[in-house]
Amino acid sequence: MTNEIKEGLEGVVAARTRLSGIDGEKGKLWLAGFSLEELAPNAHFEEMAYLLWHGQLPDCEQLEAFRARLSSWFLPGHTQSLIEAAVRTGQKPIDVLRLALDSLCLEDAEADVALVGATPVIVAATWRLMNQKPVIQPDSGLRFAENFLYMLSGRRPTAAMACALDTYFNAMVDHGMNASTFTARVVTSTRSDRKSAIVGALGALKGPLHGGAPEPALAMLQQIGIPDRAEPFIRNVLERGERLMGFGHREYKVRDPRAAVLAQAAEKLCEDKGDTGLFDLARLVESEAVRLLEEYKPGRRLFTNAEFYTAVLLHELGVSSELFSCTFAVTRMAGWIAHCREQEAVDRIFRPQSEYVGCEGREWVDLGNR
Ligand code: ACO
Repeated sequence: MTNEIKEGLEGVVAARTRLSGIDGEKGKLWLAGFSLEELAPNAHFEEMAYLLWHGQLPDCEQLEAFRARLSSWFLPGHTQSLIEAAVRTGQKPIDVLRLALDSLCLEDAEADVALVGATPVIVAATWRLMNQKPVIQPDSGLRFAENFLYMLSGRRPTAAMACALDTYFNAMVDHGMNASTFTARVVTSTRSDRKSAIVGALGALKGPLHGGAPEPALAMLQQIGIPDRAEPFIRNVLERGERLMGFGHREYKVRDPRAAVLAQAAEKLCEDKGDTGLFDLARLVESEAVRLLEEYKPGRRLFTNAEFYTAVLLHELGVSSELFSCTFAVTRMAGWIAHCREQEAVDRIFRPQSEYVGCEGREWVDLGNR
Protein backbone atom coordinates (compact mmCIF):
# COMPACT_ATOMS: atom_id res chain seq x y z
CA MET A 1 0.00 0.00 0.00
CA THR A 2 1.34 3.47 -0.88
CA ASN A 3 1.21 6.17 1.77
CA GLU A 4 -0.24 9.54 0.79
CA ILE A 5 2.52 11.98 -0.11
CA LYS A 6 2.25 15.43 1.47
CA GLU A 7 4.11 17.72 -0.90
CA GLY A 8 6.15 20.18 1.16
CA LEU A 9 5.25 18.01 4.18
CA GLU A 10 2.17 20.20 4.62
CA GLY A 11 0.35 19.29 7.82
CA VAL A 12 2.99 16.71 8.82
CA VAL A 13 4.17 16.98 12.44
CA ALA A 14 7.92 16.29 12.37
CA ALA A 15 8.98 17.09 15.94
CA ARG A 16 7.86 18.10 19.42
CA THR A 17 9.10 21.47 20.66
CA ARG A 18 8.86 23.65 23.77
CA LEU A 19 10.21 26.64 21.89
CA SER A 20 7.33 28.12 19.90
CA GLY A 21 3.73 27.28 19.11
CA ILE A 22 1.57 28.57 16.27
CA ASP A 23 -2.20 28.77 15.82
CA GLY A 24 -2.51 29.55 12.14
CA GLU A 25 -6.30 29.96 12.19
CA LYS A 26 -6.35 32.42 15.08
CA GLY A 27 -3.08 34.14 14.13
CA LYS A 28 -1.35 33.41 17.44
CA LEU A 29 2.29 32.74 18.25
CA TRP A 30 3.76 31.74 21.62
CA LEU A 31 7.44 31.76 22.42
CA ALA A 32 8.32 29.40 25.29
CA GLY A 33 4.79 29.95 26.61
CA PHE A 34 4.77 33.77 26.39
CA SER A 35 2.58 35.54 23.88
CA LEU A 36 4.50 37.19 21.06
CA GLU A 37 2.70 40.50 21.69
CA GLU A 38 3.88 40.62 25.29
CA LEU A 39 7.39 39.30 24.86
CA ALA A 40 8.66 40.88 21.64
CA PRO A 41 8.43 44.59 22.53
CA ASN A 42 9.52 44.10 26.16
CA ALA A 43 12.44 41.68 26.15
CA HIS A 44 16.01 42.38 25.21
CA PHE A 45 17.28 39.83 22.71
CA GLU A 46 19.69 38.35 25.27
CA GLU A 47 16.71 37.53 27.54
CA MET A 48 14.90 35.95 24.62
CA ALA A 49 17.84 33.75 23.62
CA TYR A 50 18.41 32.75 27.26
CA LEU A 51 14.72 31.87 27.59
CA LEU A 52 14.84 29.58 24.54
CA TRP A 53 18.02 27.84 25.66
CA HIS A 54 17.19 27.49 29.35
CA GLY A 55 13.38 27.41 29.40
CA GLN A 56 13.12 30.35 31.80
CA LEU A 57 13.87 34.06 31.89
CA PRO A 58 17.25 34.99 33.41
CA ASP A 59 17.64 36.97 36.64
CA CYS A 60 19.87 40.09 36.59
CA GLU A 61 23.09 38.21 37.26
CA GLN A 62 22.41 35.48 34.69
CA LEU A 63 21.42 38.07 32.11
CA GLU A 64 24.54 40.17 32.58
CA ALA A 65 26.80 37.11 32.37
CA PHE A 66 25.04 35.90 29.21
CA ARG A 67 25.15 39.36 27.61
CA ALA A 68 28.86 39.65 28.34
CA ARG A 69 29.57 36.25 26.77
CA LEU A 70 27.59 37.11 23.65
CA SER A 71 29.35 40.43 23.13
CA SER A 72 32.87 39.18 23.71
CA TRP A 73 33.33 37.44 20.37
CA PHE A 74 35.97 39.13 18.20
CA LEU A 75 36.61 38.52 14.53
CA PRO A 76 39.70 36.29 14.09
CA GLY A 77 42.28 37.33 11.49
CA HIS A 78 41.79 34.27 9.27
CA THR A 79 38.02 34.85 9.09
CA GLN A 80 38.49 38.54 8.28
CA SER A 81 40.88 37.59 5.44
CA LEU A 82 38.29 35.16 4.11
CA ILE A 83 35.58 37.84 4.25
CA GLU A 84 37.86 40.30 2.45
CA ALA A 85 38.52 37.79 -0.33
CA ALA A 86 34.83 36.92 -0.67
CA VAL A 87 33.85 40.59 -0.79
CA ARG A 88 36.50 41.26 -3.43
CA THR A 89 35.03 38.54 -5.64
CA GLY A 90 31.54 40.04 -5.30
CA GLN A 91 29.90 37.31 -3.22
CA LYS A 92 26.55 38.18 -1.65
CA PRO A 93 26.59 38.97 2.10
CA ILE A 94 24.55 35.85 2.94
CA ASP A 95 27.10 33.68 1.12
CA VAL A 96 29.95 35.49 2.86
CA LEU A 97 28.25 34.77 6.17
CA ARG A 98 28.02 31.07 5.33
CA LEU A 99 31.69 30.92 4.36
CA ALA A 100 32.79 32.86 7.44
CA LEU A 101 30.74 30.77 9.88
CA ASP A 102 32.15 27.63 8.33
CA SER A 103 35.68 28.95 8.87
CA LEU A 104 35.31 29.30 12.65
CA CYS A 105 37.24 27.01 14.94
CA LEU A 106 34.76 26.30 17.72
CA GLU A 107 35.29 24.58 21.05
CA ASP A 108 32.28 22.32 21.63
CA ALA A 109 31.49 23.80 25.05
CA GLU A 110 31.32 27.38 23.75
CA ALA A 111 30.09 26.72 20.20
CA ASP A 112 26.50 27.85 20.76
CA VAL A 113 27.36 31.19 22.37
CA ALA A 114 30.16 31.75 19.85
CA LEU A 115 27.83 31.21 16.86
CA VAL A 116 25.27 33.71 18.17
CA GLY A 117 28.03 36.17 19.11
CA ALA A 118 29.86 35.75 15.81
CA THR A 119 26.97 36.22 13.40
CA PRO A 120 26.36 39.98 13.89
CA VAL A 121 30.11 40.64 13.94
CA ILE A 122 30.59 38.85 10.60
CA VAL A 123 27.59 40.55 8.98
CA ALA A 124 28.71 44.00 10.11
CA ALA A 125 32.32 43.35 9.06
CA THR A 126 31.15 42.19 5.64
CA TRP A 127 29.11 45.34 5.19
CA ARG A 128 31.93 47.63 6.23
CA LEU A 129 34.43 45.88 3.98
CA MET A 130 31.96 46.05 1.07
CA ASN A 131 31.91 49.80 1.65
CA GLN A 132 35.70 50.18 2.07
CA LYS A 133 35.38 51.01 5.77
CA PRO A 134 37.40 49.60 8.67
CA VAL A 135 35.88 46.71 10.62
CA ILE A 136 34.45 47.59 14.04
CA GLN A 137 34.72 44.98 16.80
CA PRO A 138 31.86 44.68 19.33
CA ASP A 139 31.75 47.03 22.31
CA SER A 140 31.51 44.80 25.36
CA GLY A 141 29.48 47.47 27.17
CA LEU A 142 26.63 47.39 24.66
CA ARG A 143 23.64 45.10 24.42
CA PHE A 144 23.34 42.66 21.52
CA ALA A 145 20.94 44.76 19.40
CA GLU A 146 22.83 48.00 20.09
CA ASN A 147 26.10 46.34 19.19
CA PHE A 148 24.84 45.17 15.81
CA LEU A 149 23.79 48.68 14.78
CA TYR A 150 26.99 50.14 16.24
CA MET A 151 29.22 47.70 14.33
CA LEU A 152 27.36 48.44 11.10
CA SER A 153 27.38 52.22 11.24
CA GLY A 154 30.04 53.16 13.78
CA ARG A 155 27.42 55.17 15.69
CA ARG A 156 25.66 54.31 18.95
CA PRO A 157 21.97 53.78 18.13
CA THR A 158 19.21 55.74 19.83
CA ALA A 159 17.10 53.97 22.46
CA ALA A 160 14.19 53.87 19.96
CA MET A 161 16.39 52.16 17.34
CA ALA A 162 17.71 49.56 19.79
CA CYS A 163 14.18 48.86 21.01
CA ALA A 164 12.89 48.42 17.44
CA LEU A 165 15.70 45.99 16.62
CA ASP A 166 15.12 44.03 19.83
CA THR A 167 11.45 43.72 18.88
CA TYR A 168 12.43 42.44 15.42
CA PHE A 169 14.96 39.97 16.83
CA ASN A 170 12.46 38.66 19.40
CA ALA A 171 9.63 38.34 16.89
CA MET A 172 11.79 36.41 14.42
CA VAL A 173 13.97 34.26 16.67
CA ASP A 174 11.91 31.10 16.33
CA HIS A 175 8.87 29.93 14.43
CA GLY A 176 8.01 26.26 14.67
CA MET A 177 9.13 23.85 11.98
CA ASN A 178 10.01 26.34 9.23
CA ALA A 179 12.30 25.22 6.40
CA SER A 180 15.60 26.41 7.89
CA THR A 181 14.85 25.07 11.37
CA PHE A 182 13.82 21.74 9.91
CA THR A 183 17.13 21.67 8.00
CA ALA A 184 19.07 22.33 11.21
CA ARG A 185 17.19 19.53 12.96
CA VAL A 186 17.73 17.05 10.10
CA VAL A 187 21.50 17.70 10.11
CA THR A 188 21.59 17.42 13.92
CA SER A 189 19.64 14.16 13.79
CA THR A 190 22.62 12.53 12.04
CA ARG A 191 24.78 13.46 15.10
CA SER A 192 26.69 15.88 12.91
CA ASP A 193 28.18 18.99 14.53
CA ARG A 194 26.52 22.32 15.35
CA LYS A 195 28.33 24.31 12.67
CA SER A 196 27.18 21.94 9.93
CA ALA A 197 23.58 22.20 11.13
CA ILE A 198 23.74 25.99 11.15
CA VAL A 199 25.40 26.30 7.75
CA GLY A 200 22.73 24.01 6.27
CA ALA A 201 19.98 26.09 7.88
CA LEU A 202 21.47 29.27 6.47
CA GLY A 203 21.32 27.80 2.98
CA ALA A 204 17.60 27.17 3.45
CA LEU A 205 16.99 30.61 4.92
CA LYS A 206 18.42 32.51 1.97
CA GLY A 207 15.76 31.33 -0.49
CA PRO A 208 13.27 33.97 -1.66
CA LEU A 209 10.33 31.95 -0.36
CA HIS A 210 11.75 32.00 3.19
CA GLY A 211 14.21 34.59 4.53
CA GLY A 212 14.90 36.23 1.18
CA ALA A 213 11.47 37.90 0.93
CA PRO A 214 12.04 41.32 2.60
CA GLU A 215 14.55 42.55 0.02
CA PRO A 216 12.07 42.26 -2.89
CA ALA A 217 9.29 43.50 -0.57
CA LEU A 218 11.21 46.75 -0.01
CA ALA A 219 12.01 46.99 -3.72
CA MET A 220 8.27 46.69 -4.42
CA LEU A 221 7.47 49.55 -2.01
CA GLN A 222 10.20 51.70 -3.54
CA GLN A 223 9.00 50.99 -7.08
CA ILE A 224 5.42 51.81 -6.12
CA GLY A 225 6.65 55.05 -4.51
CA ILE A 226 3.28 56.83 -4.35
CA PRO A 227 -0.17 55.59 -3.27
CA ASP A 228 -1.77 55.89 -6.73
CA ARG A 229 0.68 53.41 -8.22
CA ALA A 230 -0.10 50.65 -5.68
CA GLU A 231 -3.10 49.06 -7.37
CA PRO A 232 -1.75 48.97 -10.96
CA PHE A 233 1.62 47.70 -9.72
CA ILE A 234 0.12 44.84 -7.70
CA ARG A 235 -2.32 43.92 -10.48
CA ASN A 236 0.62 43.70 -12.84
CA VAL A 237 2.51 41.31 -10.57
CA LEU A 238 -0.53 39.08 -10.12
CA GLU A 239 -1.46 39.21 -13.83
CA ARG A 240 2.03 37.89 -14.61
CA GLY A 241 1.36 35.00 -12.22
CA GLU A 242 4.14 36.11 -9.87
CA ARG A 243 4.09 36.14 -6.07
CA LEU A 244 3.80 39.23 -3.93
CA MET A 245 6.68 39.13 -1.51
CA GLY A 246 5.70 39.53 2.13
CA PHE A 247 2.29 37.88 1.66
CA GLY A 248 1.01 34.35 2.17
CA HIS A 249 2.09 31.76 4.71
CA ARG A 250 1.88 27.99 4.99
CA GLU A 251 0.67 28.17 8.61
CA TYR A 252 -1.24 31.44 8.90
CA LYS A 253 -4.62 31.69 7.23
CA VAL A 254 -5.08 35.14 8.79
CA ARG A 255 -2.60 38.02 9.19
CA ASP A 256 0.71 36.77 10.60
CA PRO A 257 0.80 38.05 14.23
CA ARG A 258 4.42 39.06 13.72
CA ALA A 259 3.29 41.51 11.03
CA ALA A 260 1.25 43.41 13.65
CA VAL A 261 4.11 43.51 16.17
CA LEU A 262 6.63 44.57 13.54
CA ALA A 263 4.27 47.17 12.05
CA GLN A 264 3.81 48.69 15.49
CA ALA A 265 7.57 48.79 16.09
CA ALA A 266 8.18 50.29 12.63
CA GLU A 267 5.52 52.95 13.17
CA LYS A 268 7.02 53.94 16.53
CA LEU A 269 10.47 54.14 14.99
CA CYS A 270 9.24 56.27 12.07
CA GLU A 271 7.46 58.62 14.46
CA ASP A 272 10.63 58.91 16.52
CA LYS A 273 12.52 59.82 13.34
CA GLY A 274 9.78 62.28 12.34
CA ASP A 275 9.08 60.69 8.94
CA THR A 276 6.27 58.19 8.51
CA GLY A 277 6.23 58.35 4.68
CA LEU A 278 7.38 54.79 3.97
CA PHE A 279 5.30 53.35 6.78
CA ASP A 280 2.13 55.09 5.54
CA LEU A 281 2.78 53.81 2.02
CA ALA A 282 3.33 50.28 3.37
CA ARG A 283 -0.03 50.39 5.18
CA LEU A 284 -1.78 51.34 1.96
CA VAL A 285 0.07 48.76 -0.14
CA GLU A 286 -0.82 46.11 2.43
CA SER A 287 -4.54 46.78 2.22
CA GLU A 288 -4.47 46.88 -1.61
CA ALA A 289 -2.43 43.67 -1.73
CA VAL A 290 -4.75 41.76 0.57
CA ARG A 291 -7.80 42.95 -1.43
CA LEU A 292 -6.23 42.01 -4.78
CA LEU A 293 -4.88 38.66 -3.56
CA GLU A 294 -8.44 37.70 -2.69
CA GLU A 295 -9.58 38.84 -6.14
CA TYR A 296 -6.86 36.93 -8.05
CA LYS A 297 -6.52 33.96 -5.67
CA PRO A 298 -10.00 33.63 -4.16
CA GLY A 299 -10.26 31.37 -1.14
CA ARG A 300 -6.50 30.91 -0.73
CA ARG A 301 -6.54 33.16 2.36
CA LEU A 302 -3.35 35.07 1.61
CA PHE A 303 -2.46 37.77 4.14
CA THR A 304 0.54 39.80 5.23
CA ASN A 305 3.42 37.79 6.66
CA ALA A 306 6.29 38.88 8.91
CA GLU A 307 8.60 39.80 6.06
CA PHE A 308 6.56 42.74 4.77
CA TYR A 309 7.04 44.98 7.82
CA THR A 310 10.51 43.53 8.39
CA ALA A 311 11.45 45.34 5.19
CA VAL A 312 10.12 48.66 6.49
CA LEU A 313 11.58 48.28 9.96
CA LEU A 314 15.08 47.27 8.88
CA HIS A 315 15.17 49.95 6.19
CA GLU A 316 14.21 52.61 8.74
CA LEU A 317 16.98 51.32 11.01
CA GLY A 318 19.46 52.06 8.24
CA VAL A 319 20.13 48.39 7.46
CA SER A 320 20.75 47.94 3.74
CA SER A 321 18.33 45.60 1.96
CA GLU A 322 21.40 43.59 0.87
CA LEU A 323 21.71 42.59 4.54
CA PHE A 324 18.09 41.68 5.25
CA SER A 325 18.54 37.89 5.03
CA CYS A 326 21.74 38.10 7.08
CA THR A 327 19.96 40.13 9.75
CA PHE A 328 17.29 37.45 9.91
CA ALA A 329 20.08 34.92 10.45
CA VAL A 330 21.49 37.03 13.31
CA THR A 331 18.39 36.34 15.37
CA ARG A 332 17.30 32.95 13.98
CA MET A 333 20.72 31.55 14.91
CA ALA A 334 19.58 31.39 18.55
CA GLY A 335 16.37 29.63 17.51
CA TRP A 336 18.18 27.10 15.31
CA ILE A 337 20.55 26.27 18.15
CA ALA A 338 17.67 25.81 20.60
CA HIS A 339 16.10 23.36 18.12
CA CYS A 340 19.42 21.55 17.62
CA ARG A 341 19.57 21.05 21.39
CA GLU A 342 16.04 19.63 21.41
CA GLN A 343 16.89 17.37 18.50
CA GLU A 344 20.01 16.07 20.26
CA ALA A 345 17.82 14.99 23.16
CA VAL A 346 15.51 13.10 20.76
CA ASP A 347 18.53 11.43 19.12
CA ARG A 348 16.72 9.74 16.26
CA ILE A 349 17.81 10.22 12.67
CA PHE A 350 15.28 11.74 10.25
CA ARG A 351 14.69 9.19 7.54
CA PRO A 352 11.37 9.60 5.72
CA GLN A 353 10.51 7.52 2.67
CA SER A 354 10.13 8.32 -0.99
CA GLU A 355 7.85 6.70 -3.52
CA TYR A 356 9.73 5.44 -6.59
CA VAL A 357 8.09 6.71 -9.78
CA GLY A 358 10.98 6.16 -12.22
CA CYS A 359 11.47 3.62 -15.03
CA GLU A 360 11.56 -0.10 -14.31
CA GLY A 361 13.18 -3.13 -15.95
CA ARG A 362 15.82 -1.25 -17.95
CA GLU A 363 18.71 -3.15 -19.49
CA TRP A 364 22.33 -2.09 -19.33
CA VAL A 365 23.87 -0.90 -22.64
CA ASP A 366 27.65 -0.67 -23.01
CA LEU A 367 29.07 2.80 -23.59
CA GLY A 368 30.00 2.11 -27.19
CA ASN A 369 26.47 0.92 -28.08
CA ARG A 370 24.43 3.90 -26.72
N1 ACO B 1 1.46 36.05 -4.00
C1 ACO B 1 0.62 35.53 -4.95
N2 ACO B 1 0.12 34.30 -4.87
C2 ACO B 1 0.45 33.55 -3.81
C3 ACO B 1 1.31 34.02 -2.81
C4 ACO B 1 1.82 35.32 -2.93
N3 ACO B 1 2.63 35.84 -2.03
N4 ACO B 1 1.48 33.05 -1.89
C5 ACO B 1 0.75 32.01 -2.30
N5 ACO B 1 0.13 32.31 -3.47
C6 ACO B 1 -0.79 31.46 -4.23
C7 ACO B 1 -0.03 30.35 -4.95
O1 ACO B 1 0.39 30.77 -6.23
C8 ACO B 1 -1.08 29.28 -5.00
O2 ACO B 1 -1.98 29.60 -6.03
P1 ACO B 1 -2.74 28.43 -6.85
O3 ACO B 1 -3.65 27.76 -5.84
O4 ACO B 1 -3.47 29.15 -7.91
O5 ACO B 1 -1.68 27.50 -7.36
C9 ACO B 1 -1.83 29.44 -3.68
O6 ACO B 1 -1.64 30.81 -3.29
C10 ACO B 1 -1.32 28.55 -2.56
O7 ACO B 1 0.08 28.75 -2.48
P2 ACO B 1 1.12 27.64 -2.01
O8 ACO B 1 2.33 27.74 -2.88
O9 ACO B 1 0.44 26.32 -1.88
O10 ACO B 1 1.45 28.14 -0.56
P3 ACO B 1 2.60 27.59 0.33
O11 ACO B 1 2.04 27.34 1.67
O12 ACO B 1 3.33 26.48 -0.33
O13 ACO B 1 3.62 28.83 0.33
C11 ACO B 1 4.76 30.79 0.88
C12 ACO B 1 3.81 29.69 1.40
C13 ACO B 1 6.03 30.12 0.30
C14 ACO B 1 5.18 31.68 2.03
C15 ACO B 1 4.03 31.59 -0.21
O14 ACO B 1 2.89 32.20 0.34
C16 ACO B 1 4.92 32.63 -0.87
O15 ACO B 1 5.63 32.31 -1.82
N6 ACO B 1 4.90 33.92 -0.39
C17 ACO B 1 5.76 34.94 -0.94
C18 ACO B 1 7.17 34.81 -0.33
C19 ACO B 1 7.23 35.28 1.10
O16 ACO B 1 6.68 36.31 1.46
N7 ACO B 1 7.91 34.48 1.93
C20 ACO B 1 8.12 34.78 3.36
C21 ACO B 1 7.38 33.79 4.21
S1 ACO B 1 7.50 34.22 5.93
C22 ACO B 1 9.04 33.64 6.43
O17 ACO B 1 9.64 32.79 5.80
C23 ACO B 1 9.63 34.27 7.66
